[in-house]
Amino acid sequence: MAMEPVHTLLATQPIASPEGVLPEDLRARYGGDLFFPLAPEGRPYCIANFVSTLDGVVSFNLPGQSGGDQISHANEEDRFTMGLLRASVDAILVGSGTLLATGPEGSWLPESVYPAAKEWYKKYRTEVLRKQEYPLVVIVTGSGELDLASAVFHTPQTRVLILTTEQGKVTLAHSGSEALASVEVKALPSSGKGIAPSAIFTLLRQEAGVELLLHEAGPTLFGEFLAGGFIDELFLTVAPQIAGRSPEHPRPGLVEKTQFSPATAPWWKLVSVRNAADYLFLRYRRSLP
Ligand SMILES: NC(=O)c1ccc[n+]([C@@H]2O[C@H](COP(=O)([O-])OP(=O)(O)OC[C@H]3O[C@@H](n4cnc5c(N)ncnc54)[C@H](OP(=O)(O)O)[C@@H]3O)[C@@H](O)[C@H]2O)c1
Repeated sequence: MAMEPVHTLLATQPIASPEGVLPEDLRARYGGDLFFPLAPEGRPYCIANFVSTLDGVVSFNLPGQSGGDQISHANEEDRFTMGLLRASVDAILVGSGTLLATGPEGSWLPESVYPAAKEWYKKYRTEVLRKQEYPLVVIVTGSGELDLASAVFHTPQTRVLILTTEQGKVTLAHSGSEALASVEVKALPSSGKGIAPSAIFTLLRQEAGVELLLHEAGPTLFGEFLAGGFIDELFLTVAPQIAGRSPEHPRPGLVEKTQFSPATAPWWKLVSVRNAADYLFLRYRRSLP
């Protein structure tokens, strides 16, 4: 595997848990150990993962070039970390915008982003964490207008839960969702603003048993979840490029359609800083008010 060495530049929590969580191969490549607090009462502990440019852009928003790979330049260490986070969690949450941008091959398997670590991820997940072989994939859509031909709906090892509105459920049924063996569709109440984040988090914990959730959705859902106080950690890769923006062709930043005031903006505590060559890997934990 041709990875750049990863260095831990700063760690404000111990870089190894007393029990040692990551197997040695993974720990050496991650540049330390990886462990998470227990879930709060009634909802999952939620970690989000993004890669952004130096100027805060998370998508070039160009046809065929709107995914994370154009932002990270398919960076090996970023892909390895993404696979490792996927391997660590009970469920991965994606919005329909991200599903569309990822394209029909997206499967959200840990090894799909870093195939060389497939066996390590599997061993860590099944033998150390004692979780099912693959995380549940949760897709959020109000409209129900998803491409059901996408790989994620046809990967037998992956259970998919689509959370949608009553109308979205009807639309999905018309598109053939009921014939997909590994897919379950649930309708949740929705207001003019869509499904309430609190309803999503409660359902995931109480009905799906999700204790650790990885948010891989885009800036729209991230903003809604942030505003609800549901994002506990942010794993942010900073890629050493500048994308720029113009008013005629907007490019999303980390958060879209949600804004905070100086009085309500969430603040974060730095947990660790790692680097591999010119890329920074930041881990932040939400500071409590
Ligand atoms: N650089 C990175 O790390 C990174 C990470 C993730 C995504 N991205 C990029 O971000 C872009 C996509 O952004 P996005 O903000 O559109 O993605 P998103 O948040 O994943 O998806 C937005 C969609 O989710 C559904 N949704 C959102 N809130 C809802 C609610 N409360 N109730 C019901 N449905 C709800 C809606 O689907 P319907 O329209 O179907 O109702 C909405 O259009 C892509 O270019 C992607 O590549 C980049």
